[in-house]
Amino acid sequence: MKPETKKYQIDKNGYYGEFGGAFIPEMLYANIEELKNNYLEIIDSDGFQIEFQKLLKDYVGRPTPLYFANRLSEKYNTKIYLKREDLCHTGAHKVNNTLGQIILAKKLGKKRIIAETGAGQHGVATATACALMGLECIVYMGEIDIARQAPNVARMKMLGATVIPATSGSKTLKDATNEAIRDWINNPVDTHYIIGSVVGPHPYPDLVAKFQSVISQEIKIQLKEKEGKENPDYMIACVGGGSNAAGAFYHYLDDENVKLIAVEAAGKGADSGESAATSVLGKLGIIHGSKTLLMQTDDGQITEPYSISAGLDYPGVGPMHAHLFESKRAKFIAVTDDEAMQAGLNLTRLEGIIPAIESAHALAALDKIQLNKEDIVVLNLSGRGDKDLSTYIKYFGI
Ligand SMILES: Cc1ncc(COP(=O)(O)O)c(C=O)c1O
Repeated sequence: MKPETKKYQIDKNGYYGEFGGAFIPEMLYANIEELKNNYLEIIDSDGFQIEFQKLLKDYVGRPTPLYFANRLSEKYNTKIYLKREDLCHTGAHKVNNTLGQIILAKKLGKKRIIAETGAGQHGVATATACALMGLECIVYMGEIDIARQAPNVARMKMLGATVIPATSGSKTLKDATNEAIRDWINNPVDTHYIIGSVVGPHPYPDLVAKFQSVISQEIKIQLKEKEGKENPDYMIACVGGGSNAAGAFYHYLDDENVKLIAVEAAGKGADSGESAATSVLGKLGIIHGSKTLLMQTDDGQITEPYSISAGLDYPGVGPMHAHLFESKRAKFIAVTDDEAMQAGLNLTRLEGIIPAIESAHALAALDKIQLNKEDIVVLNLSGRGDKDLSTYIKYFGI
């Protein structure tokens, strides 16, 4: 992997601009230090890369296709390509990261894996990696998410994971993350915490971004084959914590002619009080060990987020995205539940692809950008909609 000293990449202290760092309780200090001091050497080693690349190819099914969406392009009178992360084994981009982290955990001698999950895709991807490597797996998941993402809970159990409900706060992703951190504090020696997005204390945001960067690495090659150039005019991705967007943006961060579009969940409307649109509502704060933009009250208490999509229902964004927002390198767009659901149905009926509701938010952003006929748009289709079928069916009365 390339050495990173660029404007939008992490600096040597673990910051993106003013965002990032590691704000952790003393009890986690040793774990985070161990990770920080070893991750670059391990993931850059030949042994690691050979094992990781082999799994990405033969197990995940990479490279995922870059699909020219003909009927969707006609609708918007532009050229739209979909990066098909929905076709990854387990149905979303999350597995790119869990396989990388599990190889890293093995090399650090860890025997027990914990994870948090919102939509259940990261939980499934972690349970899958643990089954593959024969490691114990415990997944924390908010009670509300357990109910709305039932197919993924069943998959995790089938894979041998223990799913523990988080019953505090909004009973969603933030609360599951709190429980996972609590577990790690209690089990510091034998346990590795596989965080599922570009959030958490340094080095997690950088570690996860590096594992997901395969997405834009492939897009560059695939677009060159199809269009004769590596760079699209627009790169669009949804942002929960921001891992699929980090992967899709990574190799374009310093190509300022590529417009980066980050799409957040506005829930019932950014100002409705039921939203997860951090770029609209967030202020500087600390969540899960990272200094970033965060939805909070005047007293600095975290505001409970809301989105119909379990994977975007998070009150912050990772520090890379906070920096991309503040520096205006990326444009942030907030999409409501209704707009996302309609965009999900549109893609299904135009292209025969049922997207995850998270990815449907990115699709809805196409209505909010002024696109020209000659523009080349790449949209990262982060996951497939199987897990969301009951939500779609209930919403549309199908
Ligand atoms: C399909 C899919 N897309 C996007 C996300 C949001 O996560 P991130 O912003 O880390 O890509 C999730 C989270 O669960 C997901 O399952």
